[in-house]
Amino acid sequence: MMKHQRYAYSSVNDFLADAGQLSQGLPFSKETSVLSTPLSVNGKTIRNRLLAQPIEGFDSNEDGSPSQRAFERYQSLADGGVGTIWMESISVNDEGKSNNRQMRLSEENTEQFAQFVTTIHEHENPFIVAQLTHSGRYSKSVACAIENPLIPKENSYIINDEALDRLADDYVKTALLAERAGFDAIDIRCCHGYLLNELFSAYNRSGKYGGSYENRTRLVKDIVRRIREQSNITVAVRLNVFDGMPYPYGWGCRPGKELVQDMTEPLRLIGELRALGVSILNISAGIGAVTPYMIRPYDMGGPVPNEHPLEGVERLLQSAKEVKTQYPELLVVASGFTWLRDFAANVAAGGISDNWFDLAGFGRQWVADPGFANEILCGRKIQKPCATCGGCTALIKKEGKEMRCVHKF
Ligand SMILES: Cc1cc2nc3c(=O)[nH]c(=O)nc-3n(C[C@H](O)[C@H](O)[C@H](O)COP(=O)(O)O)c2cc1C
Ligand code: SF4
Repeated sequence: MMKHQRYAYSSVNDFLADAGQLSQGLPFSKETSVLSTPLSVNGKTIRNRLLAQPIEGFDSNEDGSPSQRAFERYQSLADGGVGTIWMESISVNDEGKSNNRQMRLSEENTEQFAQFVTTIHEHENPFIVAQLTHSGRYSKSVACAIENPLIPKENSYIINDEALDRLADDYVKTALLAERAGFDAIDIRCCHGYLLNELFSAYNRSGKYGGSYENRTRLVKDIVRRIREQSNITVAVRLNVFDGMPYPYGWGCRPGKELVQDMTEPLRLIGELRALGVSILNISAGIGAVTPYMIRPYDMGGPVPNEHPLEGVERLLQSAKEVKTQYPELLVVASGFTWLRDFAANVAAGGISDNWFDLAGFGRQWVADPGFANEILCGRKIQKPCATCGGCTALIKKEGKEMRCVHKF
């Protein structure tokens, strides 16, 4: 374990010296032109290897459709050159919304979403993914898959099997609406502790969604199977492969008291999702309330972790590599490039050249500088490197305000 430190590299040698201390290491390439190469997925072209990860805007219209502010945010992101926009989470029903300003796609507002997708496509034609979610423990209804003393929640209740059956209907319905609205793909979000992710660790739940591996992973597989039966839209999953919480509360860890990552079940699930027709896997880790540094390695804005941010990046990229090695036919997205600032392009290019993953996902970096992709693709430095200060997260999670970058450059 290396000690936590803020980013302070003044030369590539400084950076490589720290990276050299990592137990498994990071990819690195001085040559970054591979980032400009296109990809094809189910007959559609993805222009380049840079992807904007989902960042919730906290600014939808009352009915859940994209607001003027959201149009502007995504237009400037598309103009900034990213090949893929993996949009912020969109709730599949009202109970699953995390807040009143979360996007929600319904029969009534599909036309507004269609106008939104058409408009963003007109700006450099990015591949656009709709991330479908139920916020579970973090929803207004505080619907939990399990009791978890590590994340106590007031007024919470355990969602029953019948409600989960109905939730599958909502996912399928919303996926079909997303297809109608013109999205290039849909993502069944299974990360960061939201409902479908929490079910994976429902070891102590009874009934058909708890206990055995089969039961814990049943719902997402049912949802994917039904969507594939009814639609041709490309299906993606953003998947936590490690929650960073000990057994029996976390997924992707070895049973026992010690917290050790174990990819056995996540890899098994990915193989089954692949067989059901999922084409894209976006790999993540961590639970916001417990292990935020695993989701987004940072300098500030959360508890000081017992690890160096580079180790957080290493976990995310090594996990993506394991998935890509086992399932080379899957399109794999790696997360967690923002903390790397000036070296993100080198690490992304190295990982793609060495076949660790296919697409490099940047989250907070596009909030700080929506033009970051063109800057990287033109071989320039990122003009406004995200300070990983936590300000944007605090705005939406603590203050309930619209998301934006608050850092003074
Ligand atoms: C303010 C904020 C909102 C986020 N919203 C979402 C979201 O809606 N869906 C999601 O899957 N991840 C969400 N994330 C996580 C990011 O997509 C990404 O995984 C994380 O920031 C790590 O990538 P980065 O180091 O490039 O920022 C959010 C992160 C932040 C900081
Ligand atoms: S507020 Fe800005 S600089 Fe700070 S983490 Fe968010 S995007 Fe990065």
